[in-house]
This record gives sequence, C-alpha cells and structure tokens, in this order.
Amino acid sequence: MTDRLTIRRPDDWHVHLRDGAMLAHVAPYTARQFARAIVMPNLSPPVTTVAEGRAYRERIVAAIPAALDFTPLIVAYLTDGTDAEEMARGHAEGVFTAAKLYPAHATTGSAHGVTDVANIMGVLERMADIGMPLLIHGEVTDHDVDIFDREALFIDRTLAPLVARLPELKIVFEHITTAEAAQFVADAPANVAATITPQHLHINRNAMLVGGIRPHAYCLPVAKREHHRLAVRAAATSGSPKFFLGTDSAPHAVHTKEAPCGCAGIFNAPFALESYIAAFDEDGALDRFEGFASEHGPRFYGLPLNQGTITLERGATVVPDRIGDVVPFHAGETLGWRIV
Ligand code: DOR
Ligand code: ZN
Repeated sequence: MTDRLTIRRPDDWHVHLRDGAMLAHVAPYTARQFARAIVMPNLSPPVTTVAEGRAYRERIVAAIPAALDFTPLIVAYLTDGTDAEEMARGHAEGVFTAAKLYPAHATTGSAHGVTDVANIMGVLERMADIGMPLLIHGEVTDHDVDIFDREALFIDRTLAPLVARLPELKIVFEHITTAEAAQFVADAPANVAATITPQHLHINRNAMLVGGIRPHAYCLPVAKREHHRLAVRAAATSGSPKFFLGTDSAPHAVHTKEAPCGCAGIFNAPFALESYIAAFDEDGALDRFEGFASEHGPRFYGLPLNQGTITLERGATVVPDRIGDVVPFHAGETLGWRIV
C-alpha cells in the first residue's frame, strides 16, 4: 500500500478568489496548495478589460504572503459587447491567460454574461487564431429546462456546434458533473478538455437533500445522480490528459448560504488536495493522481510544468466546521491524507 506520495507541484485550473476582505481571507489557502491558479473573473463588476485584469492580478498578489510562491492566471469575462482586439491585446501582454464564457444568468455573477454565443463569434474566432483558451460554464439557462438537465442540454445546443464550427479553438468545459459531459470530452478532439471539482467526485444530489436541506453542498452546476458522479470520477482517474484539476472553490459568507435564497458555491480550497487524493485512493488510482493534479492542465494550456514537489501521506486531516466566516467542504469530517 502506498502511504506517501510525492508529486510535482499542482495547479488549480479553476478558482474563485473574490476581492477585498474575502480575497485576503481565502487566497492564502489556494497559494499554500497550488503553484498557479486560473482565477475566475465573476467579480462585481466583472473583469472585462486588460486594465481591470492587471489591477485584479496586483490585488491578488498583494493578498498572498510573499513566502508562498504563487502565480495567479487571470481570465477575462466575456460579455455580448466584448471586443476581440481587447482580448488579443490582453493575451499578448500576458494579462489574460484565457477568457470565460458565462451564459447570462447561469450562476453567481453571470448577469453580464453572454446571451447568445452568436454575439461573440468574432471574439471566439480571434481567440482560436491566437491560441487563447475559452473556458465555459456549460449550462443552458432556459426557464423551462430542469436544473438537473442543464449541463447535458448545453452540450447539444451550444458546445457540440461550437466545437464543430471552431475546430482550432481550445475549450475547457469547466466543472463537469454528468456522464454526458465526461463522454463528450473523452470523444472530442484534443483541443477540448474539462476540469473536475473535488465535490463532484465525492457527493451526489442526496448530499444536498437527504435528511434536511444542506446549503453547503449546493453549487452550480448542481451535483447530480450517483451514476453521474461515478462517470465523472472514472474520467478523473482514467489517466486521460483531457481531464484535470479545477476546484471551483467558491467561498460565500455563511449567512449568504444559510438563507431563504442561498448562494451557489462550495469553499474547498483549504483541503482540496486531501479531498482529491482520497477519491483517487479509494479508486486505486494513486498512480494517476500526479497527471490529473500537475501535468494535464499545464500541457493543455501550453504552460511549463512546475518544478517543485509536494508530498502527501496517509494520516488524519480534521476539517474544521468554519474557517473564518465560511464553511469549508468536508466540514466536521476527517480526511485520510495530509500534506507533509
Ligand atoms: O457554485 C458556483 N459558485 N458555481 C459557479 O458557477 C459560480 C460560483 C461562484 O462564483 O460563487
Ligand atoms: Zn467557478
């Protein structure tokens, strides 16, 4: 039995670090575990221009203790009015690593999102030309579509046609939650990949709804049925270079989650690696953990692999009930791995 695992330093390819006091509170947790992170731009107002991206990067760097060697990778937020030239300039100047497509009103901070992909086709064509990845929150937003079906329907209505129309565009289907999404990505060409969160490896929709309504298990895309969890887990542990780590850590103050209309988001950054490795261990896939956590992401993005290492070993990690004003994923549980 493997009791200790040393891997190349990992990256988080999808995180929400927020701004202001919340940024100062949560960013060090991500910087302790990861060398780099793709930082999502759904602030209010969102990060849409190169100047805003540069300023946000400076605020993130200022929020992280200098001793932690961490590089935030900034993402532009696409709107119906995004200028292709601004995206290309941000990419060329090293400010924007990628751009994020939020369908309007799909999730937290998506009110300025894209109402129809046709509106940004010129931007996406330019991104394909310059090799700038498109990161997608893949859910339809139509009121008549059941929330548990919104990801699978997005594939048919939007993603599959987009992949066919722009075969050169690098696309990351973010935080996949369904068997359909895992299958689509596995079957797609090499320029289509997906991130997978720790929560979608561990919980199905029962975690939200059995024995009482549990707002801290609520995120978007929402956890689905058990067979979807198993399919997502099989994709993560498959060793396929198309699947990589993206926590979607999304902190919300406890009173905004435990409310009549609670926010979507799970704060998993403090124990993300301990959570992921537990899933890989349970599935007998520890030998594939390094690829998922540290290699597939940078290769897809065309970035260098990290040089340092991190060691995890079997041992108790007790997850507290609260971290400041935020309830972490696995609150009150003890995980079976710890960072050395
Ligand atoms: O659960 C989520 N929370 N899903 C998202 O897409 C956004 C995120 C947030 O920013 O809180
Ligand atoms: Zn997210």
